[in-house]
Amino acid sequence: MILPEHEVVIGEDEIKARIKELADEISADLGDKNPLVVVILKGAFIFASDLVRHFDFPYEMDFMSTSSYGSATKSSGIVKILKDLDEPIKDRTLLIIEDIVDTGLTLHYLVQMLKLREPERIEIAAFLSKPARRKYSSEVKYIGFEIDDRFVVGYGLDYQQKYRGLPYVIAIE
Ligand code: IMP
Repeated sequence: MILPEHEVVIGEDEIKARIKELADEISADLGDKNPLVVVILKGAFIFASDLVRHFDFPYEMDFMSTSSYGSATKSSGIVKILKDLDEPIKDRTLLIIEDIVDTGLTLHYLVQMLKLREPERIEIAAFLSKPARRKYSSEVKYIGFEIDDRFVVGYGLDYQQKYRGLPYVIAIE
């Protein structure tokens, strides 16, 4: 794969260790809730697949796809649901798995929308967070890493649909 000019922001071993820690924390909190793990496509697919493989409790999975970006590196401010959940969530405990919280718009919108369906509880795990960019508050309980305001790719995250498969996170200019 041809890589752009880049700096490694989070290495492979660091990611592996942190995912295990997060999975243990989530197991302790939600292990007896039979949660519905809701993976937000496409960016969270690698994070989610590594995370759930550490779960040693019953859970179910569903997938949603949202779009707020097109192919630019700044949010358009509009969230579209491209794929909704397959099953009802009333009275369920949800664990939403997101790739990165940037302005917070996507999660803010999603949580408001899902709350209307009356789940018992909604928890959120995000691989990355850029706190400096936050405009919409959302309570993300499980955060892999906080990063500076830079555009990053790898480990599921893309630039124009590329670089998702990198096993580490790089910043591109
Ligand atoms: P938010 O709605 O502003 O929080 O943006 C969240 C979405 O923007 C994420 O789910 C990503 O798809 C995308 N995004 C934000 N920052 C980055 C980045 O640095 N790299 C790749 N995608 C990003």
